[in-house]
Amino acid sequence: MANFLNYSKYYDLLYKDKNYKEETNYITQTLKELNPSVKDILELGSGSGSHAYFLSQNGFSITGIERSQSMVQESLQKEIPNFEPIQADITDFELNQQFDAVISIFHVISYLTNNDSLIDCLQLVHKHLKPKGIFLFDFWYTPAVYSLKPETRIRRLEDESISVVRIAESTIHTQTNVVDVNFEVHIQDKQTLQTQVLKELHPMRHFSIPELELLARLTGFEIVKSEEFLTKSKPSDTTWGVCLILRKK
Ligand SMILES: C[S@@+](CC[C@H](N)C(=O)[O-])C[C@H]1O[C@@H](n2cnc3c(N)ncnc32)[C@H](O)[C@@H]1O
Repeated sequence: MANFLNYSKYYDLLYKDKNYKEETNYITQTLKELNPSVKDILELGSGSGSHAYFLSQNGFSITGIERSQSMVQESLQKEIPNFEPIQADITDFELNQQFDAVISIFHVISYLTNNDSLIDCLQLVHKHLKPKGIFLFDFWYTPAVYSLKPETRIRRLEDESISVVRIAESTIHTQTNVVDVNFEVHIQDKQTLQTQVLKELHPMRHFSIPELELLARLTGFEIVKSEEFLTKSKPSDTTWGVCLILRKK
């Protein structure tokens, strides 16, 4: 499914208020508690490189796997030291290296909407981790999707040259645990007042914790913990993003 194509040009603007530094400090602290000498990180769905930027500042070397060529280009423009993004699919890649930790942040794993792709990804993570290596990722949490229900959301942002309005409309598919998020992005050039409209479909799968723990056990991991991403609270019916931390057996 092609997404994050033209949308990627506006990605950093749409998420300019997202606190990547704080998120990266949470990731750093969590990884270091489990392995104080963690150094080499593989990041799945590295996007425009915003976590890699701060991970690099925190002293890590990062290899990114990112499917969208334009997102890879955005990340290269940041000229991040000790960061190499590779254009590939997280369900189909081969690197000649094992890492201390693998991370995947901002619901990238929820983009894996069927069981085969999820198993392929977990097996590849296992293969690319050193013994006892950590896999940390966040995902859409089933109880929150059903109790909060994704609503139509509108985001308005601007920089010196463009203004952007993004409308996100969702359809819940109860039989497949997938929510289709339809993004419509209206971009207006402030000088010419010309408007361009982009549309992208982002199918997102939500998971329960026992479902992911079962798959993780079957692919060679032990469960370290699950918690709300960033706050470390116990997941509840209103926790949209849960973080699962696994260790390679
Ligand atoms: C919501 S963005 C998150 C990007 C980045 N991690 C961040 O926090 O800003 C999801 C990213 O995952 C990438 N992605 C989704 N499915 C993928 C796949 N199967 N293989 C590689 N990248 C994928 C998308 O191209 C996009 O860049």
